Amino acid sequence: MFAAGTMLFASCSTSPESEMDAFIDDLMSKMTLEEKIGQLNLPASGEIITGQAKSSNVAERIRKGQVGGLLNLKGVERIREVQKQAVEDSRLGIPLLFGMDVIHGYETIFPIPLGLSCTWNMEAIEKSARIAAIEASADGICWTFSPMVDICRDARWGRIAEGSGEDPYLGSEIARAMVRGYQGDGMKRNDEIMACVKHFALYGGAEAGRDYNTVDMSRQRMFNDFMPPYKAAVEEGAGSMMAAFNDVDGIPATGNKWLMTDLLRNDWGFDGFVVSDYTGVTEMVDHGMGNIQDVAALSVNAGVDMDMVSDSFMGTLVQSVKEGKVSEETINTACRRILEAKYKLGLFEDPYKYCDLERPAKQVFCAEHREVARKIAAESFVLLKNEGNILPLQKKGTVAVIGPLANTKANMPGTWSVAAVAQNIPTLVEGMKHALGDKVNIITAKGSNLMSDAAYEERATMFGRSLGRDNRTDKQLLDEALRVAAKADVIVAAIGESSEMSGECSSRTELEIPDTQRALLKALLNTGKPVVLTLFTGRPLVLNWEHKNVPAILNVWFGGSETGSAVADVLFGDVNPSGKLTTTFPQSVGQLPLFYAHKNTGRPLAEGKWFEKFRSNYIDVSNDPLYPFGYGLSYTTFEYGDVKLSANSMDANGEITATVSVKNTGKYDGNEVVQLYIRDLVASVTRPVKELKGFEKVFIKAGETKEISFKINVEMLKFYNFDIDYVFEPGDFDVMIGPNSRDLKSARFTVK
Ligand code: NOJ
Repeated sequence: MFAAGTMLFASCSTSPESEMDAFIDDLMSKMTLEEKIGQLNLPASGEIITGQAKSSNVAERIRKGQVGGLLNLKGVERIREVQKQAVEDSRLGIPLLFGMDVIHGYETIFPIPLGLSCTWNMEAIEKSARIAAIEASADGICWTFSPMVDICRDARWGRIAEGSGEDPYLGSEIARAMVRGYQGDGMKRNDEIMACVKHFALYGGAEAGRDYNTVDMSRQRMFNDFMPPYKAAVEEGAGSMMAAFNDVDGIPATGNKWLMTDLLRNDWGFDGFVVSDYTGVTEMVDHGMGNIQDVAALSVNAGVDMDMVSDSFMGTLVQSVKEGKVSEETINTACRRILEAKYKLGLFEDPYKYCDLERPAKQVFCAEHREVARKIAAESFVLLKNEGNILPLQKKGTVAVIGPLANTKANMPGTWSVAAVAQNIPTLVEGMKHALGDKVNIITAKGSNLMSDAAYEERATMFGRSLGRDNRTDKQLLDEALRVAAKADVIVAAIGESSEMSGECSSRTELEIPDTQRALLKALLNTGKPVVLTLFTGRPLVLNWEHKNVPAILNVWFGGSETGSAVADVLFGDVNPSGKLTTTFPQSVGQLPLFYAHKNTGRPLAEGKWFEKFRSNYIDVSNDPLYPFGYGLSYTTFEYGDVKLSANSMDANGEITATVSVKNTGKYDGNEVVQLYIRDLVASVTRPVKELKGFEKVFIKAGETKEISFKINVEMLKFYNFDIDYVFEPGDFDVMIGPNSRDLKSARFTVK
């Protein structure tokens, strides 16, 4: 099949790296310049649409050795067929990479990443990535474009849904867990796939939250707040990285040598390969960086190894080598990195490693995976309000599930679930019925369209995510809903965003519940019956009105394929909610960007004030969020004791233990995420008022008290200073522990 490879594998007794080097040296010695450049291309299969590009003549190009991998082709049989073309019909038989946007599950879909992060459960997050890898690899995929680790602090940006929120420490832990989950034991087994960390770098810092917009930030903010998750993923051994669309310090990331080579490879030691994001290379023409030949050269010279769909490497690099604009050495380096990835994935040993035709039926969307997804979904929900302990509901009587999100299959999984099969996914109502059996009588009505503006609704439900716009008038829809509600003991309002209102190219300037749905909610509340708002959203929304008027709010994000059952599990008390927000919910869009780890400024407000003249504030709204980072309620209550320190001072090699007692003072057993924050009081640069430095998710039985301890050492106190050196500066620090970033107990220590 692949003679050179077979020979080398049979005879070598040296280290794995030198075996790989020797194998690739040998292979590359047979490759023409055109074939080397051929490896640097990732055309699209054209089947799953994730952008505007179209790739033509793919089969012919594969035979000519002009393709390194294929984007978003679904189905193991077809993938096997295409792999066969590459292996049997191209001159050197080099196997292809098959990459797909497997972002939060393959066919078994887990909560959107923002929801997943609210579990604060690294084991669960790793498991979700593991299952995604098992299913994707069973269906022929060996490379996923995940994890997306972009920090985001601006809820207007639709892609906030795809990341892990606003915090670099938590984001780094999650980035590591995801890479471990996908790549497992170094991509050796046939159910372990290569991760692609994205979008390098700073994509979540888009100006005004408008997608693809310019990013311009200080190195201070960059290194302290935005870079840590990318670096953590590199340290965890991620096999590939995706360049961001935006510019970084005036140069688009896709052509930014400082970013792709100096920082990523030279400083961080990344040894995988870098792929452009979609047409990111040719988009540099519009950025104003030159013509197609210029930008392709800029990109490969910067350290981008593979061109996703823009065909600019293919069309121009031979010429650029001839003209001396790109060295052959640079092409060799990029080609070698792609071949190394294929080697590490074991594709030279067995190009059909991921093409076992028996696997999909056993492993894709199987009962075992769906059960895990149901548990994780329930763990991702965040209880925002529960006045008078209206929740949990009792399993009896009649419950009316009303709203445009009640009966849609396609909107359950959430954005970026390209492999999901919508017709297999239960609607909210179907899932609830399945979970509750005949204990509860569930009745339902649509109640309203997504919004009154039909054109907006169309933009918000693209790519097969339509809610089926109802031709009845608002009044007819509402009347029907009220007739249904009249028969119920409790109303569950299934309201919020459609799944395509967040994700790529779904930035919004207004973040309130859309007009028709707010009207429906008001009418439901006017019935006087208990109303529980089951909120669907891919981002923080502005919920002042709902917070004031609705007794119970359960934020379910987009919970994935098992949303319906998981919602029933939580609403009816089989699962006590434990999700905590990883992104701040603002009171007003005007506060954005809003995040807990802000600086103090020279004019902070005095404790307890929300406005003072000549202080840093607004005259119309306080600086406070509606719901702070780390916030989330439980059916039980937890009481925190004071923070006790093992010592009040330490030296630079020392360690202090901070302990709190946490008592479950309510009626239900429950999980609590105990959070540790630290503030550096005086430093050579201004430091945030608090930064998350640790957390522990603990199960505490009703009435039980647990002591939770965190060890604090100097490593946790380091930051990037003005010169971007990662330093520790001695002095005083406040340590704060509590249930969220607002309600904290604190103590002070000194490091000498
Ligand atoms: C563009 C998106 O930015 C990226 O996240 C995705 O992986 C690619 N398209 C491929 O679909």
